[in-house]
Amino acid sequence: MTAFFKALLLAHTASLAFAATYWQTDSHTGSGFLKAFRFEAISDPTHGRVKYVDSATAAAQNLTFASGNHFVLRADSKTTLSASGPGRNSVRLLSNKQYRNGVMVFNIRHMPVGCGTWPAVWTVGSNWPNQGEIDILEGVNNQGPNTVTLHTSSGCSMPASRAQTGTALLNNCDVAASNNAGCGVRMTDTRSYGSIFNNKGGGWFAVERTDSFIKVWFWSRAATGMIPTDVLNGATSVNTNNWGTPRAYFPNTNCPISSKFGLHNIVINLTFCGDWAGNAYGSSGCPGTCIDYVNNNPSAFTNAYFDFAWLKIYQ
Ligand SMILES: *[C@@H]1O[C@H](CO)[C@@H](O)[C@H](O)[C@H]1NC(C)=O
Ligand SMILES: *[C@@H]1O[C@H](CO)[C@@H](O)[C@H](O)[C@H]1NC(C)=O
Repeated sequence: MTAFFKALLLAHTASLAFAATYWQTDSHTGSGFLKAFRFEAISDPTHGRVKYVDSATAAAQNLTFASGNHFVLRADSKTTLSASGPGRNSVRLLSNKQYRNGVMVFNIRHMPVGCGTWPAVWTVGSNWPNQGEIDILEGVNNQGPNTVTLHTSSGCSMPASRAQTGTALLNNCDVAASNNAGCGVRMTDTRSYGSIFNNKGGGWFAVERTDSFIKVWFWSRAATGMIPTDVLNGATSVNTNNWGTPRAYFPNTNCPISSKFGLHNIVINLTFCGDWAGNAYGSSGCPGTCIDYVNNNPSAFTNAYFDFAWLKIYQ
C-alpha cells in the first residue's frame, strides 16, 4: 500500500470513528435549570385546564424547587378550583438558548402522573409549524408507553419501515394532514412513561438531530448494564454510534430535515385535559369528566411533578 493510500485509509477510519462524537456545551442541574429556562405565563394553545404561572408565583407556591441535583417542577395540588375561574396552576419553561443539530440528554427521576395530566418535554421553533416540533417525552392520563412525535409543515413523511425499536403510528408529519397528530412512534418499553417509569427510578431520554435524521433513545434506570457509560455518567463527550438502535428514527428520505426544522427552544410543560388528555380521558379509564376531576381533586395531583437530575447538551 502506498503511503498516500494509507493516509487516505487512516483519514477515513478517523472520520468514521469520530462521526458521531459530540462535545458537551451545556450542563444544567438543580437551580441551573432556573438560569437556563424562563417561565412562560401564557394561556395554553392546546386548551388545557391550566394556568401557567410566572417565576415568583412558582417559587412562592413551591411549584418549582431546586436543591442539589434535584430540579422539581410541579402543578398545584392544594387548591380546589372554581368551575368559572382559571385552571390549575402549573409551569411551562422555555430554554433561553436555541439549538439546531446536536445531542440532548435528559436524566429524569420522576415524571408527572395522574388522570388529566399531559406532561411534555419537547423542542419547537418559531412560527409553528414551519420550523418543526420534536416531542421527546409526551403522553396523557398516565397511559404509557412514551410517544415520540414530529410535527411539521407539508412535505415531510416517514418511510413505513425503518431502523427503530418503537412502533410507527402515522407516517405523515404534516400537522395539516391528520388534525395535528404528526408522525408518532410509540416506544415498546413500558418503563418509558408514567407510574412504571417512576417506579423504576426514571431514566434517560436522548435525542440526536442532524441534517439527515432525528433519533430518540430511552434507557430505564432499571436497565442495569444496558445504559451507555457516557449517558450514565453524563460524560463530557458522547458517541451516539455506541447507543444501539434508537427507539424512534426519522430519516430524511422523504423529509428535508434541514429545511423542515429550524432553530429550536426546549420546552418543558405540564398541562391538564385540553386537546389530547381531555379527548382521551374517558378511554384512559379515568373517573367522571376531565375538567371536573382537575377542578375538584387537588390531592390527585400530588404526583404531578417532574424531578430532573440533569440536562446535558452536546454539539
Ligand atoms: C404542552 O405540550 C404539548 C407538547 O406537545 C404541546 O402540544 C402544547 O401546546 C403545550 N402546551 C403549552 C401551553 O405549552
Ligand atoms: C417544596 O418541594 C420540595 C420538592 O417536592 C420539597 O422537598 C419541599 O419540602 C417543599 N417545600 C415546602 C416549603 O413545602
